[in-house]
Amino acid sequence: MKTLIACYSYSGHTLKVAEALKIKINADLTNIKSEKDDWYPFRLWKALREKKVPIKPCQTDLMNYDGLVLCSPVWGGKTPPAINKYLSELTNVKGKHFGVFVTSGGKRSQKATIQMREYLDSQGMQFLGQMRLLAKDVDDEKYGEIFDLFAKKFID
Ligand SMILES: Cc1cc2nc3c(=O)[nH]c(=O)nc-3n(C[C@H](O)[C@H](O)[C@H](O)COP(=O)(O)O)c2cc1C
Repeated sequence: MKTLIACYSYSGHTLKVAEALKIKINADLTNIKSEKDDWYPFRLWKALREKKVPIKPCQTDLMNYDGLVLCSPVWGGKTPPAINKYLSELTNVKGKHFGVFVTSGGKRSQKATIQMREYLDSQGMQFLGQMRLLAKDVDDEKYGEIFDLFAKKFID
């Protein structure tokens, strides 16, 4: 299975795990970056209102892939605006597999995962799995069994 890992990460936690996953499942990794960084309250405000912001060019076409793992931090319980924009730019997704992965500061915040799942489901993609890690566990590189179980779903 050829998988694209698409990752937005503001302070590096999500990217650190996405890079480990890339090696583990032998996937390609594309970095989602916003054109400019907003001041913290604006970032939060836009996430809460499910806004989009312009992103730099990255891989959005799944034509040459069997699946997608979308990786995101949780902002205000939701997905960052750059992820919302990335989702809207995805093409050739129908029938492909997907997984979602989030990092967060706390244990609540499932809405971000639900947002990504619902959107990708609505585009005709097939859900394979989801994973959430706490930022402090990422700092300590404590990915646990959940990382191996999640990765396994994307290995033939
Ligand atoms: C604007 C903003 C909003 C956040 N909101 C939440 C939140 O609602 N719930 C939570 O658990 N963590 C929240 N966090 C913490 C991040 O989700 C967490 O630190 C994450 O691992 C950061 O990932 P990154 O280093 O890849 O950017 C927020 C962080 C930022 C910058």
